[in-house]
This record gives sequence, structure tokens and C-alpha cells, in this order.
Amino acid sequence: MNGKEATTVRARDLTRNFGDFVAVDHVSFEIHAGEIWGFLGPNGAGKSTTIRMLCGVLEPTSGSAEVLGYDVARDPEAVKLRIGYMSQGSSLWADLTVEEHMQFYAGMFDFRGASAREAVHTWIERVGLAERRGVLAGALPGGYRKRLALACTLLHRPQMLFLDEPTAGVDPISRREFWDLIVGFAEEGVTVMVSTHYMDEAEHCNQLAFIYGGRVIARGAPAELKRDSSIGHTLELTASDPIAALEAIDDAPFVLSAALIGASTHVTLRDASHEPALRDLLAQANVAVHDLRPVTPSLEDVFAALVSQS
Ligand SMILES: Nc1ncnc2c1ncn2[C@@H]1O[C@H](COP(=O)(O)OP(=O)(O)OP(=O)(O)O)[C@@H](O)[C@H]1O
Ligand SMILES: [Mg+2]
Repeated sequence: MNGKEATTVRARDLTRNFGDFVAVDHVSFEIHAGEIWGFLGPNGAGKSTTIRMLCGVLEPTSGSAEVLGYDVARDPEAVKLRIGYMSQGSSLWADLTVEEHMQFYAGMFDFRGASAREAVHTWIERVGLAERRGVLAGALPGGYRKRLALACTLLHRPQMLFLDEPTAGVDPISRREFWDLIVGFAEEGVTVMVSTHYMDEAEHCNQLAFIYGGRVIARGAPAELKRDSSIGHTLELTASDPIAALEAIDDAPFVLSAALIGASTHVTLRDASHEPALRDLLAQANVAVHDLRPVTPSLEDVFAALVSQS
């Protein structure tokens, strides 16, 4: 068995072009067994393209990647058999029931007879769909549809899961329930690579990578990324007129990001030395500063600053 430190995914200079366009640009990283590895980045950054290469469904243009010891370009079929892949917006058949979906996938993975029934039963229970086994997928609420898509990827007990925005468009309670499942699998030793736009989900990950324009521009545990001073200096500003404050500072070259958070404004400066210049700008705009203090940035602050720096 793999120990905690065993490497499940190793990508080296993984690159994918579409014509002249470089969608994924020399991306390198490792994912260790049992980790929940979060993949963040704006629309079009290259998350899905990277995941599709790792799943053996899209050929890399150059570079290499190994998943569970198999080279994704040389041996894509071996990879596909051993992983679970929930593609972005993965579709279900509206006119098949929960159980029929599971039976279909059981057939695809060569389960027969009693072993198929057992696998279907196990995973329907595990993802909390037992009471809805006879419901058509098209009639399931969004959160349950996602759980069904997840269950279909789990039947063959993969040791590695690739989940591409698995909770997009799902309500917060259902997202939390979905994440309870993910955390449970990881505790059992399953490795999970998951892309998301939700920062609360990113906080659940052991490791994060942020991709922008096809390049991985930051990596680390959530707490490490928030502590990393090279990503800027975040201040919480309480001012007489938060909207005017935001307008006054937003375009300043030393401001990496500024956003309203409740009644205050989070401002990330290139570094702490720009604080007097920030105060000057606010004074020029006739904004009275009630309070300005350094705070630990949120992941959202960190990523807004990263995009701005890039
Ligand atoms: N088959 C394709 N042909 C041409 N361009 C493509 C193809 N697939 C992806 N791209 C382009 O590659 C870039 C990266 O796309 P990708 O889907 O990987 O982004 P993403 O990070 O998953 O974005 P999102 O958050 O919107 O899902 C985009 O500019 C996209 O338009
Ligand atoms: Mg995508």
C-alpha cells in the first residue's frame, strides 16, 4: 500500500496547445497519496485541460505525467481504468433512474451479477441516495445529481479521483454535504484532485495550486498561501464612504486588489511601504479613514492579488 508520502500524480512540464494557443504551459506538480489537492484559477485558466490530460482523455502536446505509476500519454487506458473522473458539468441521462445509472456504469467496469449488485448497493448507500434509487436523474435536485455523478465514478473503487468543478451551481448546504463525502474518501486514503471556484471549498484542501493563463503561479497549503508576504500586504479599511474609497484606490499601481467585504474594504498593497500613499489617495478623495489595520488575507484576497501581479 502507498504511504502518506507516496506520489500519486507527477506532472512534469505538462503542456497542451490548441493550434497556436497554449492552454496549459509547462505545468509541474506532485500530488501525494491521500491529499485533497485543490486546483484554482479563473475561467479559461487551464484547469479542465490539465485534468483531462491527467485522466488520459486528452493527449499532452509536450511534457509528461504519471498517474498511479502509469504514463498518461503512453498508457492512457491503464490510467482510465484506475481513476474516477467527474468531468465538468458531467451529464447524466435524464430518463434513467439512480439505480439504472449505477448499473450502467457497473457494466462498463465489468461488474457482473452479484458483484454488480453489491457495488451498486454500496455506493448508492454511501452517497446517500438509497431512498431515491428509483428516481429519474432528471427529477433529482441539483445536489443529488452531483452525488449520483460522483457515485458513478466510485464503483470500481479508484484510488485517485479527479473532480472538475463538482459542485458548480449547487446550493451551499448540498456543497457542504458533498465535501463531507470527499473528506471521508480522503481519510480512507483516496487521493483527490478537485477544481473549484469556491474559496470555502479551497479551505478544505491540503494543498492548492493556482493556475493563470496556463501557468501555475502559486502553490501551497491554504495557510501557507495566506502567510506568504510576497503575495502582498493586506489591510482592512473602514472608511466614511466605502464606495468612494474603493474608487479612489482601485487603479493605483501599488494596489494589487481591493474589494468590499461587508462594511469594510480589503486592500492588498504590493508591500507595507505603500501605506502612506494609500492614505494620501483617500485624503485627496475626501474619504475619512476610521480604521486601517493589517489583517490576515482571505484566500480570495490572495488570489485577486496573484492575478493582479501576473
Ligand atoms: N478543444 C479546445 N480547442 C480549442 N481551445 C480549447 C479547447 N479546450 C480548451 N480550450 C481553451 O483552453 C483554455 C483553457 O480552457 P480550460 O477549459 O482548461 O479552462 P478552465 O480553467 O477549466 O476554465 P473554467 O473555469 O471556465 O472551467 C481556454 O482558453 C479554452 O478556450
Ligand atoms: Mg474547466
